[in-house]
Amino acid sequence: MVDYVNELEEIKEEWLPSRKQLVSTLKRLGMGTRKLEHSQEVADFALKIVQEVEKDGIKVNKKIVEAGALLHDIGIVYMLDDLSPEHSVIGAEIIRKLGLPERVARCAETHEPITWQEAKDWKYPILPLKETYMPQSIEEKIVTAADFFIYVLKEGPEDFGYERFNLWKDPKKAIIESFYPYCREVYKKKIGKEITKNHSMIKRGYELFEGFVKYIKPDFI
Ligand SMILES: [Fe+2]
Ligand SMILES: [Fe+2]
Repeated sequence: MVDYVNELEEIKEEWLPSRKQLVSTLKRLGMGTRKLEHSQEVADFALKIVQEVEKDGIKVNKKIVEAGALLHDIGIVYMLDDLSPEHSVIGAEIIRKLGLPERVARCAETHEPITWQEAKDWKYPILPLKETYMPQSIEEKIVTAADFFIYVLKEGPEDFGYERFNLWKDPKKAIIESFYPYCREVYKKKIGKEITKNHSMIKRGYELFEGFVKYIKPDFI
């Protein structure tokens, strides 16, 4: 039998709307100015990571990365606040309903390093079907890393009252200290539990992000 599912996915990828069209879709769905700016910054940052990753001979689909980065937070338009990691799975459903490629949907779906068990415990409105929602493909990993490193370098630490961490001098400290406040707030909100910096969610994030530090350059921001 012809593998029509893959063929149709390839066609959908060729049909991908332009950046301008994707940004106007986000506006039309009511995404606020700050999130809209964030989405475009993540897309620019992700494309810079792509250039570095490609120097290592790794093949990356730039169109999927750009669309995935622009749309990664699309689910937030239906959430009440930023501390709702389920915006990832809701966003993926919106992307699928818009008829966009599955590989773009997966970039949104996997951009929060949440396990299936956490999604279940936190009563996600859509329970992931897969065993894990950690990013798998290089495109998914780049979108997730871009979102995270913008947070480390620009958005997060100062919001939490810390001095900016030197990502290149002490990547471990920068990643853990930046990721921990977010994870702690999410856990507190979801199950009213305090977590420590040794929690598996922090470890999971660190393992995912540490390999990307070499691809992040100070002039990316
Ligand atoms: Fe997000
Ligand atoms: Fe984001």
